[in-house]
Amino acid sequence: MVRTAVLVSGGGTNLQAIIAAQLFGEIQNCKLVAVISSTPGAYALDRARAAGIETSVVDFSMFPTKRTFNTALLEKLKDLDVELVVLAGFMPVLQRSIVKEFENRVINVHPSLMPAFCGPGRIGLRVHQMVLDQGVKVSGATVHFVTEEIADGPIILQKAVDVQQDDTAKILQRRIMELGEWDILPRAIDLYCRGKLRVEGRKVIIDE
Ligand code: GAR
Repeated sequence: MVRTAVLVSGGGTNLQAIIAAQLFGEIQNCKLVAVISSTPGAYALDRARAAGIETSVVDFSMFPTKRTFNTALLEKLKDLDVELVVLAGFMPVLQRSIVKEFENRVINVHPSLMPAFCGPGRIGLRVHQMVLDQGVKVSGATVHFVTEEIADGPIILQKAVDVQQDDTAKILQRRIMELGEWDILPRAIDLYCRGKLRVEGRKVIIDE
């Protein structure tokens, strides 16, 4: 079983999708050992507790620097002895120390079709507002391995979702979650945990 930690910061709908997929047997060979939140009041923590998963908080706001936050988070991940780290709506940027230690073992879900609408500060609703402002007709979701460059890692899975003419950022966000993120994030975890992913340079090869 691949010992897996899910990192969250907010509502945790992606975490819920992972929990559900595991219950339905759609994720195999994966043990969710902990959910770690960067914010103490995150609803994702309630979802984890309800599912009987250990929770902990590494409170971003309590650390004087990003570096000290990352050091504490790395220690926590090492203590838990996890192999795979899943960023499911986790907002702080992971620094080099963690990415190096967990090379090709950190998976992130991003709410656009990378490499479009990603990069520093492009998180959550902001991404969808940019999509609407740009007038693009198709957006979507991406699951990728995390590298030192923000939102630039090898892409595992993507799903395109239509933008509707009268969308607000919130409506578009919800559609992309439902049709995109909640589908491809659990699938990517399953592929990883069954040993089906191979990284070759910028590309992820899926051995199915
Ligand atoms: C999701 O849409 C996720 O893709 C996005 O935040 C939302 C979290 O929702 N993540 C980012 O923007 C990070 N780049 P959730 O807490 O309900 O899963």
